[in-house]
Amino acid sequence: MISEKLSQATRNMQSSMIRELVSSTRDIPGLISFAGGFPSPKTFPRETLGRLYANVIENEGECVLQYGASEGDNMLKEELLKWEGYSLPHEQILITAGATNAIFYMTLALVEKGDVIICEAPSFLGSLVAFDAVGAELIPVDLDREGIDLAGLQSAVQKVTAEGKKIKFIYTIPDFHNPSGITMSYQRRRDLVKYALSMQIPILEDNPYSRLRFSGTALPTLFRIAHDEFQNTEIVTEIVSFSKILGPGMRLAFAKGSPILIERMCSWQQKINIAPDNISQRVAARFLAEGHMGPHLEKICSFYAPYLEAMLTAMSRYLPPYVQYTKPEGGIFTWVWLPEDMSADELFERAKAEKISFIPGSKFYPVGKEKFNCLRLNFTFSTPEQIEQGIKSLGKLISDFYA
Ligand SMILES: Cc1ncc(COP(=O)(O)O)c(C=O)c1O
Repeated sequence: MISEKLSQATRNMQSSMIRELVSSTRDIPGLISFAGGFPSPKTFPRETLGRLYANVIENEGECVLQYGASEGDNMLKEELLKWEGYSLPHEQILITAGATNAIFYMTLALVEKGDVIICEAPSFLGSLVAFDAVGAELIPVDLDREGIDLAGLQSAVQKVTAEGKKIKFIYTIPDFHNPSGITMSYQRRRDLVKYALSMQIPILEDNPYSRLRFSGTALPTLFRIAHDEFQNTEIVTEIVSFSKILGPGMRLAFAKGSPILIERMCSWQQKINIAPDNISQRVAARFLAEGHMGPHLEKICSFYAPYLEAMLTAMSRYLPPYVQYTKPEGGIFTWVWLPEDMSADELFERAKAEKISFIPGSKFYPVGKEKFNCLRLNFTFSTPEQIEQGIKSLGKLISDFYA
């Protein structure tokens, strides 16, 4: 009976394809997995967080066990501003239960059924499904090695505008992109911000990975460029997640942007969630205030660096020369382009039989706009030895498949 009463949007909703793929291989003994997107549990600062959780509940329990403010803990906002080096009013920051919620609130605040969101192709599936659930039309724009293709973006904007549709925002992941591993170049960032300002199209900058940089020089975020070079703190809404730097179980993220938008996003948070977890927010505030973040980030970056090195070395050694792949300086993913006529969805089944798993790239495109000759590899879950062995087998599978 109840199934007949489900809303249309709920009926249309599919379970996460990625979760299904990951769980279809989970129980295979000896499987080498490049599929997931979890941080390594070895990077969680368990001792420090254990002490802080106990202290915060003991000393500040009367406050933090109470309902918190919908916009987030002021002490955490203060610490976040110090950490990032901004002097913004608290009204321009919203703390949320993970980036997923912040992305959803921004979409709810801006998008009506049929409105357009421009996304990168490929892009993070979790966001694509949230946009879809709100009824947005997704217009994908290809990535090149420097990030979103600006000429492609401009012609997409022209086309959509000529059709009379409203573009609500551009969704981008500039640093160590999920799934492609690409980092947007400085010039591309600047050009993108400039173009968005000239067209007055808001940008949603999703930033879960920029602090996971193991080598090379950090680039300014789009929000930073808009703030420093264009004196604008409204065109970009930057969402920073703590999931990959402290632990996704804490469900913590924050958004910075236009005070009007932040206030409307906060209204959604109030209705859906009342407030983010008060205890975790205060723990994160104390973590920052006691100066743990800098050394902790250094530690996890040096922890992950050999994993990336193992991946890139194995890829150069074992993947056939007609295969192309990204060479990130951080994050948790690399991306492989196979020859045009080869399907990674088919390769996935063959790899599963050889106890190797990855995510076929088609899963990261809007429905109906998929590319099949690509795949995502995570390099932070399997050990460096497994990475070497797994990529060796994958290289052989690709060569046999292509022969
Ligand atoms: C690009 C991107 N955005 C958002 C998220 C979700 O982050 P959170 O755990 O903060 O909801 C992820 C997690 O994998 C991600 O890769």
